Amino acid sequence: MAVTRSPLIIALDYASLDTALCMADQLDPSRCRLKVGKELFTRSGPAVLEALHGRGFEVFLDLKFHDIPNTVAAAVQAAADQGVWMVNLHAAGGRRMMEAARERLDHAGLATHLIAVTVLTSMERADLAETGLDVEPMSQVERLARLARDSGMDGVVCSAQEAQRLRDVCGDTFLKVTPGIRPSFAAADDQRRVLTPAEAIRAGSTHLVVGRPVTQAREPMAALAAIEQELSA
Ligand code: C5P
Repeated sequence: MAVTRSPLIIALDYASLDTALCMADQLDPSRCRLKVGKELFTRSGPAVLEALHGRGFEVFLDLKFHDIPNTVAAAVQAAADQGVWMVNLHAAGGRRMMEAARERLDHAGLATHLIAVTVLTSMERADLAETGLDVEPMSQVERLARLARDSGMDGVVCSAQEAQRLRDVCGDTFLKVTPGIRPSFAAADDQRRVLTPAEAIRAGSTHLVVGRPVTQAREPMAALAAIEQELSA
């Protein structure tokens, strides 16, 4: 397994193992990690993890578990047993669910990073109100980030705007994994409120999830190099 110090996590949002591996084969495991999400994993199963690990990549398995504590703990252990670098769950599942997952990893001596989703960035105030939460999304994000930290999570998935606030609330070493990143050379696509990689790191993000600016580029490694350049400028 290549050990990388890069903050970059490239999202492999593909519907088949073949297309995902075709992209992975154009990337360098010493310069980025890869994210596998629900569609690719549901279609390809654990074979995708094996194939990416075999190519030397560290993998963030983005399945956002949310269930009773025992079920989530078992799912997190299953991910960690397969060697994934990072896995996530919904903080809304509560303290006992998160603690059960933490305990399971610690008990098995597994070093997989366990991070939480707070409020989905697709949710606005009105969406939260419909679920019975009459609060500003940011205050719910803060509340769930604190709960995640207190329940032993290593960090959260958050927008770069939230990263800034969460650095104050949860500290520098609490991981902040941030999508919605657009290098200065890239189109925004369907993302709103995008930040450049350098802006996101300045805001407190520790890891950056980047999809289409790299995966849709004619030369993915050249796009990745351009992002590295922006980060070191
Ligand atoms: O192509 P793009 O850079 O927009 O991809 C971003 C990745 O991050 C996708 O896998 C998307 O599902 C994920 N993501 C996101 N916004 C969130 C949470 C996850 O874009 N709030």
